[in-house]
Amino acid sequence: ISLKSYNTFGIDKKAKFFAIANTEEDVLEALEKAKEWNIPLLILGGGSNILLTQDINALVLKMEISGINLIEESKEDVFVEVGAGENWHQFVLHCIEQNWAGVENLSLIPGTVGASPMQNIGAYGIEIKEVFHTLRAINRDSGKTEVFDWNECQFGYRESVFKNALKDQYIITKVSFKLKKNPIFNISYGAIEETLQTMGIKELNIKAISDAVIQIRQSKLPDPAVIGNAGSFFKNPTISQEQFDKLKSEYPNIPGYPNENGIKVAAAWLIEQAGWKGQTFGKIGVHKLQPLVLVNYGDGDGKEIANLSKKIQTSIQEKFGILLHPEVNFI
Ligand code: EPU
Repeated sequence: ISLKSYNTFGIDKKAKFFAIANTEEDVLEALEKAKEWNIPLLILGGGSNILLTQDINALVLKMEISGINLIEESKEDVFVEVGAGENWHQFVLHCIEQNWAGVENLSLIPGTVGASPMQNIGAYGIEIKEVFHTLRAINRDSGKTEVFDWNECQFGYRESVFKNALKDQYIITKVSFKLKKNPIFNISYGAIEETLQTMGIKELNIKAISDAVIQIRQSKLPDPAVIGNAGSFFKNPTISQEQFDKLKSEYPNIPGYPNENGIKVAAAWLIEQAGWKGQTFGKIGVHKLQPLVLVNYGDGDGKEIANLSKKIQTSIQEKFGILLHPEVNFI
């Protein structure tokens, strides 16, 4: 079947076999079938972080395990277990309705709950690792369900153990979060404060923060339902202080944010400086408001997008001596 409606880039590639998982048992059954047929099993969440470059000779399993359940409650916290197939933003909205705080800054991020710990999704000053409690995942080899706690997930910037040491070894089925009954607001990200002001918010609350984030995202990120895209295509690279100082003397405006490994540089800025912002090439291109986002305007091809990303990498490498790493997974 065509996967066009199952990936936010809207790339028209086919899967040899396709199935939907509503339960952990369904996942086990799919694992067995894939073994029996001797083909890979590819798990698909919201399809919001993949680039399909070819037809897939695999069993594609769309994760649709649902449910948002309050499992434990203390004076200050709630522990909520969520099915991997739940839409991330719908989950955020549910939390806001229940007055569970902690994920409001992560409003409107495309994708599913099951994919969220995989790459430790983050935006506007918050990463999922700050609210993550545990997850359940099926071991592809043994078929056993295992529980991973915070440490075992080895979260980093857009990283977890599931993208590294345990890559392709587990299927996440449920994620539990620790949320707060009394919010700790994070409006460190300048744009949030400005937007709250223009919205006329006097008393801060999680709904207002969510509304502000939604407004900011809608103002500069293309809606995948209208223009195909997978959010940020590259990660923001971290370079050494030394390399940053050198670049700074040549480009005084270069934005940099110190972290534990050096200076994190805005990839969007590098791409804009190299002249890519808003460029179109046939049916694909670089978004005109957020150059970190590559877009598919119509029936663009995944291979063309992959080629464009390589050209951008080369040009950034030549101009700044920095290698950009894709955030999106190529399939
Ligand atoms: N910038 C430019 N030109 C532009 C846009 C941005 O030079 O046209 C520079 C500016 O200096 C700006 C900086 O880039 O201050 C950062 O831009 P922005 O605030 O838009 O964030 P980002 O670093 O480009 C990251 C995440 C986004 C997340 C935003 C907001 C990554 C790879 N991306 O983007 O996440 O929404 O911060 O927190 O870390 C995603 O992962 O798919 C995603 C959209």
